Amino acid sequence: MTDSKLFDKKLTEGDGGSVKKSKKKQKKGDAWRPEGPRDPFAMLDSLPEKEQQEIQRALHLFSLGPSLPKTLQQAKRHTYRFWDTQPVPRLGDNMTTHGPIADGEVSVRKEPYSLPQGFSWDTLDLSSPVVLKELCTLLNENYMEEDDNTIRFNFSPEYLQWALQPPNWLAQWHCGVRVDTNKKLVGFIAAVPADVRAYETQKRMVQVKFLCVHKKLRLKRMTPVLIREVTRRVNQQGLHQAVYTAGVVLPTPLSSCRYWHRPLNPRRLMEVNYPGLRQNMNLQRALKFHRLPEVTKTKGLRLMTKEDVVGTHSLLQTNGSKFHLSPILSLQEVAHWLLPQENVIDTYVVEGDDGSLTDVVSFYGVSFKVLNHPVHTGLRAAHLLYIASTTTDLTDLMEDAVVLAKSKGFDIFSALDVMDNKTFLEKLKFSISDKNLHYYLYNWRCPNMSPDKVGLVLPS
Ligand SMILES: CC(C)(COP(=O)(O)OP(=O)(O)OC[C@H]1O[C@@H](n2cnc3c(N)ncnc32)[C@H](O)[C@@H]1OP(=O)(O)O)[C@@H](O)C(=O)NCCC(=O)NCCS
Repeated sequence: MTDSKLFDKKLTEGDGGSVKKSKKKQKKGDAWRPEGPRDPFAMLDSLPEKEQQEIQRALHLFSLGPSLPKTLQQAKRHTYRFWDTQPVPRLGDNMTTHGPIADGEVSVRKEPYSLPQGFSWDTLDLSSPVVLKELCTLLNENYMEEDDNTIRFNFSPEYLQWALQPPNWLAQWHCGVRVDTNKKLVGFIAAVPADVRAYETQKRMVQVKFLCVHKKLRLKRMTPVLIREVTRRVNQQGLHQAVYTAGVVLPTPLSSCRYWHRPLNPRRLMEVNYPGLRQNMNLQRALKFHRLPEVTKTKGLRLMTKEDVVGTHSLLQTNGSKFHLSPILSLQEVAHWLLPQENVIDTYVVEGDDGSLTDVVSFYGVSFKVLNHPVHTGLRAAHLLYIASTTTDLTDLMEDAVVLAKSKGFDIFSALDVMDNKTFLEKLKFSISDKNLHYYLYNWRCPNMSPDKVGLVLPS
């Protein structure tokens, strides 16, 4: 049994084992520390940045190392050592009933799950600018599933505060792992509160997000410990369900959705070789094909303000009831998730002649850093959050959102094929990508659903 397997077993399984006992076993090895007499990572670090990038690109190209299933077909051949111990539906189960999988009344473990020697839990205090910066650094350097090291996320502190501190957020649900010796943050997982309706059942649960393990500590089974620990902390508050999304197939997707992308600045996207663009167009054709009107056309369309919270809430709740999975937002949550914030979230409403709101569309902004390019240093993507209309044609409303995103300097607009989005994606020249996003519920069984029945979007 390898060290990492040993740690996975000893540290993450069974609630009964005392901390003392498991510590003894840990001394056998330090699972998360790069092993060997000469640290290969230190060797890699000592190379110039450009050479490091070339090596990483080559590794990415040849896809060395095990990777998680991307399709249900591949998933059927994969053994889920961790997920098979969790209250989630098994792959292949035909779900017809609705309800929890495990009994929520069992007692909650009091002490945190043990970490290998040399690592400690740290509840991140995101009100501290220093801590927030550390989290930005961890995510910006490591939050890429398949990184060919040319384009990286560039989350801003404001974005992370928006994503991680909605109404009723709890500090203990911002779980970090640090190295004892230098206090470096090397792991993170977060949960934020959310009321979600799945079919007929409305539940207070959490959204789990920003699961991240430092690149040098990958494939050492830190993820199961992070998931178990955040679950324990959520259970302590009397909550037993969670909703989350992932690009990989785990047991078992509630719905499997697809990303679509609409170039706004084709020149820049082509120059940085943005993944997933149509390969069959030269620049001139791409520019012509993706040309957009300079101005919006919907009468009464304007930026959302505080006074619009009640009207927007009502539009979203009515629209959400069309789907099998939707958020139940409070007024405070509508204000938090939708009120415009520079470089974080944009929301536009349509005001009718009588002053009432008839439509709403919102998109959040994700920035990327472009590495090692002679001209470009960054890219900005707008992601569709919610769109709901009672009067304006959905395609017209969305086209205006695309026009506004371009005028604000975004380079690409991304959307999932959830809700009624399929009705406008192709018409507005979004093209389908090869990336899926799977939706999951933890400790909840219900029939799976097609993307157009998903009315929930979870910003990463
Ligand atoms: C996702 C990530 C934390 C996984 O780390 P890792 O070192 O590859 O995996 P570990 O060895 O720690 O753990 C493996 C277990 O975690 C599970 N796992 C991996 N990625 C997961 C995910 N995104 N969500 C839930 N579980 C996941 C695996 O299925 C495996 O369990 P199994 O034996 O039941 O199959 C890491 O690749 C990472 O930080 N990626 C960049 C950020 C990212 O993509 N985050 C996820 C966003 S959804």
